[in-house]
Amino acid sequence: MREQTVIRALELFCGIGGFAAASAGTNIRVAGAVDQSPAALEVYRLNFPGHDAWQLNLENVTADELQVFGADFWWLSPPCQPYTVRGAGRDVEDPRALSFRRILDVMARMNENRLPSHLALENVEGFARSEMRRRIVGLLSDRGYAVQECMLCPTELGVPMRRPRYYLMASRVRLSPPVVIVDVPLRPLGDYLDGVDESGVHDGLHVGGDVLAKFGKGFRILDPNDPQAYTTCFTSGYGRSLMRAGSYLQCAGGVRRFAPEEIARLLHFPEGFRFPDRMTLRKKWHLAGNSLSVAAVRKVLEAFPDVLKCQKNPPL
Ligand SMILES: C[S@@+](CC[C@H](N)C(=O)[O-])C[C@H]1O[C@@H](n2cnc3c(N)ncnc32)[C@H](O)[C@@H]1O
Repeated sequence: MREQTVIRALELFCGIGGFAAASAGTNIRVAGAVDQSPAALEVYRLNFPGHDAWQLNLENVTADELQVFGADFWWLSPPCQPYTVRGAGRDVEDPRALSFRRILDVMARMNENRLPSHLALENVEGFARSEMRRRIVGLLSDRGYAVQECMLCPTELGVPMRRPRYYLMASRVRLSPPVVIVDVPLRPLGDYLDGVDESGVHDGLHVGGDVLAKFGKGFRILDPNDPQAYTTCFTSGYGRSLMRAGSYLQCAGGVRRFAPEEIARLLHFPEGFRFPDRMTLRKKWHLAGNSLSVAAVRKVLEAFPDVLKCQKNPPL
């Protein structure tokens, strides 16, 4: 690939690197990644050792810090709690929205020639109805960006996992016409699993009979051989909250939770993606539940005609 076609990207709120994984195999080169969580950065650096990943609280970020990587594509996955019912839906008033507000303030004051050519964002469905969405779309339009928005769920791409999310794509250069999603048949859930012959007792995944007796009626327990089986959205509370945090699996010896590595596979992180050995299960679940669908982000990147698929990653 010719050097001039490389797009330098900045991955803001990078977590464990969902965008880094999605942009692999394209002409995007992640020049910098930022998050405040040491645990997320530990996973990020383990899997993307060539990327420059910084620990930084974005609530105080400056224009110089955002520009130090010389990135022309900014990816943002800001915290979603301000826009969820569970997170109290305080929108722009939520303290967890401060970092995002700060980035918008910095962008509003930036010289035109210092703004990135392309920007994209992922968040929960509720974001579409938020004041924060109104502010970012207004700012981008004022600053000369063409903007597209869509909702996308991995099930529409054949992945047996529900995770409907809002995406925004913006460019000062050009965007492709909106991508039409043609529902494809679900892949078998079994393709994503490590195995269901064991009950998960040895690796901490097993759900005890007492818990099942008390709460099991409210669980979504999947038969891994059911070709129509799909999981509900895994949240960062999986393994901590029993209900509404994700699905369970019927296996030979009982019922078990999904392993964090299986959730990462359902998110379409590449084979070989891993968590640090010493990291607790709860922490791994938390980070995987906070992450994004790599398959969906790959689809979203199709809105940018300047993002090209290539055989090989550009050198880091
Ligand atoms: C929804 S998650 C994004 C996860 C990421 N897309 C991934 O693939 O794992 C939000 C991320 O924002 C980070 N974060 C929250 N507040 C922040 C702040 N003030 N400064 C920097 N990072 C922050 C969290 O640590 C978390 O990793």
